[in-house]
Amino acid sequence: MATVRKLAGLFRAIAAEDLASASAIATEICKAEQRQGHTTAARLLRGALHPNGRALTQAEGPPGPFPGSTGFLSTGLVRLAPDVQLQDVVLTTKARQELQAVILEWRHRERLQQRGIQPRSKLLFHGPPGCGKSLSARAIGRELGIPTFVVRFDAIIGAYLGQTAIHLRQLFHFTETTPCVLLLDELDALGKKRGSPLDVGELDRIVIALMQELEHSRPAGLIIGTSNLAKHLDDALWRRFDLTLLFKAPSRKVLTSYAKRLARAKGIRLPVSVLRRTAAADSFAHAEGIVIGEARRQALRTVG
Ligand SMILES: Nc1ncnc2c1ncn2[C@@H]1O[C@H](COP(=O)(O)OP(=O)(O)OP(=O)(O)O)[C@@H](O)[C@H]1O
Ligand SMILES: [Mg+2]
Repeated sequence: MATVRKLAGLFRAIAAEDLASASAIATEICKAEQRQGHTTAARLLRGALHPNGRALTQAEGPPGPFPGSTGFLSTGLVRLAPDVQLQDVVLTTKARQELQAVILEWRHRERLQQRGIQPRSKLLFHGPPGCGKSLSARAIGRELGIPTFVVRFDAIIGAYLGQTAIHLRQLFHFTETTPCVLLLDELDALGKKRGSPLDVGELDRIVIALMQELEHSRPAGLIIGTSNLAKHLDDALWRRFDLTLLFKAPSRKVLTSYAKRLARAKGIRLPVSVLRRTAAADSFAHAEGIVIGEARRQALRTVG
């Protein structure tokens, strides 16, 4: 434990509003705990001192309820381009109807709320890779006329004990005050970060903090989680979403018409052999890669 002499010095610095000295003494206390092998205590103290991974300085002032909120959000959120329309995303009839219903609820949210009905605002898209989960989230943002932000989970997970929960609170506060689509992409990654220095106990706490935030939040826009490893998701997390939607792997027929549509847009015709390969693809993304490769080959032939 910190000596009384150090604590007295810290209190004096706080009383004198000398943040630089307070910060220096607090850092010294953290180091002393670390030296004595009190690792958890040292992390707890460091987390309290650097809530955003940054040192407290005179210029920033003392931490408020969301200390340095621009700090984490400026690196933890990436705005996605509104370059895709929902009508261009291939969806099953059921998925399209569900998404249209959510969009309609959002547009009429005030009238619904006046009648005591909460519009659905937390969606979970799951299914195999490359089948339109992230694409649909972007398209929905465009459809609603609000920005889409993807969350960088590596930025959320703080180096210090307790920091991740602070980041999650900042993130959800942001969604409650800013109409946007918040994309929690590859949600399963949050619960099973490989090579993470965090212990299992802290991972559990992160998932619990995420569940609590999801449960209580009233987003101004939509929160969309995605996962292609749905079975890795905690059942309790799953239940926090208002709508879960499966993005199935496309059939051969759907892949063929998708490939033909892409080819038309690129002004090429696909030979039968290429059409066969696209029909056997395991996802839209895979089929798209085959069409792009073919377009490149055909372009080179005309150039050469
Ligand atoms: N349903 C679809 N309709 C049209 N294009 C699609 C569709 N699904 C995928 N694509 C194409 O494949 C690309 C990758 O898709 P997307 O990022 O949505 O995959 P995902 O389902 O989120 O996969 P992952 O689980 O790997 O994140 C898209 O940018 C788009 O070009
Ligand atoms: Mg994705």
